[in-house]
Amino acid sequence: MSKITSSPRLSHLNISKMKKENVKIAALTSYDFSFANLCQEAGVDIIFVGDSLGMVIQGHDSTIPVELGDIIYHTKIVAKGSKRPLIISDLPFATYQESPKQAFSSAAKILKAGAQVIKLEGGEDMASTTEFLSRRGVAVCSHIGLTPQSINQLGRYGIHGKNDESFAQVKKDAFAQQQAGAVMIVLEALYADLAEELANELTIPTIGIGAGPSCSGQVLVIYDILNITMGIKPKFVKDFMQGQDSILSAIRAYVAEVKDGTYPATKHLYR
Ligand code: KIV
Repeated sequence: MSKITSSPRLSHLNISKMKKENVKIAALTSYDFSFANLCQEAGVDIIFVGDSLGMVIQGHDSTIPVELGDIIYHTKIVAKGSKRPLIISDLPFATYQESPKQAFSSAAKILKAGAQVIKLEGGEDMASTTEFLSRRGVAVCSHIGLTPQSINQLGRYGIHGKNDESFAQVKKDAFAQQQAGAVMIVLEALYADLAEELANELTIPTIGIGAGPSCSGQVLVIYDILNITMGIKPKFVKDFMQGQDSILSAIRAYVAEVKDGTYPATKHLYR
C-alpha cells in the first residue's frame, strides 16, 4: 500500500501566514530546472514562472508573444527542479481576457503542469474572472499597477498611482480582486505610499516589484538580480552578484536582504 505523505511545498496559506506574522516573503522569477533548484537552495518562498520569459529567455520586446505552451513547458521544468517554493505561473496575453471560461481552460492546463497558483493581469476589470476561477478551485494571484501585457494600450512602462485618479483606480483594483477571491496581489511600479496603504489595508499578501518596502514580500526577475539582463534597468533593480562568488550566494543575499528589509532601499522607491 502506498504511504500518504504531506507535500513539503508551500501553499498560498503558508504565504498568507507569513504576512500575518510579519515575515517578509522572498520571491523570484525562474524558468528552468537548475535555477528553480538554486532558488530552493537559497530559501526563496515563491517562484514566479513569469511571462517575462518572453523578454529574458525568448528575446522579444514585450511579453505579448508568449504562448500558453511556453508557460506550461517552463512550469513543468521549474516544478521538477524545486520541492518547497510555491509556484505561481502567468496566464499569457490573450489566453484569459476573452471570457472566464477561456481563463479556466488556460489555468487548468497550467495547474496540471505543476503550478499551484495562476497569475493574471488586471484589477476591477478582471474581478469577475478571478471570482469565476476562485469558485472552481483555482487560486488566483492578481497583478496590478503596471501591467506589461497592456503595453500597447499603455504606450510606455510608467509608474502608477502618481495622480489622484490613478491612485484611486489602483486602490479599487486591489480591493475588487481581494473581494473576488484573489489569494495575493503583485504590485508593479507603484508609488511607495500607495503600496504602503494597500499593504496595511488589504488582508491578502502584497508582493512588490518596484512598490517599496511596505509590501508583504518582494519579487524581481532573476536575471536582473544576477546582472545578466542587457540594457537600461528600472530603478528598483539591484545587482546581487556584486561581492558574491556564485549564483547561489547572490540569490541567498537577495533572500537575506528581503527578509531583513534591507532591500528595497530608499533609492529603489518611487516617491
Ligand atoms: O512576468 C513576470 O516575471 C512577473 C513577475 C515579475 C511577477 O510578472
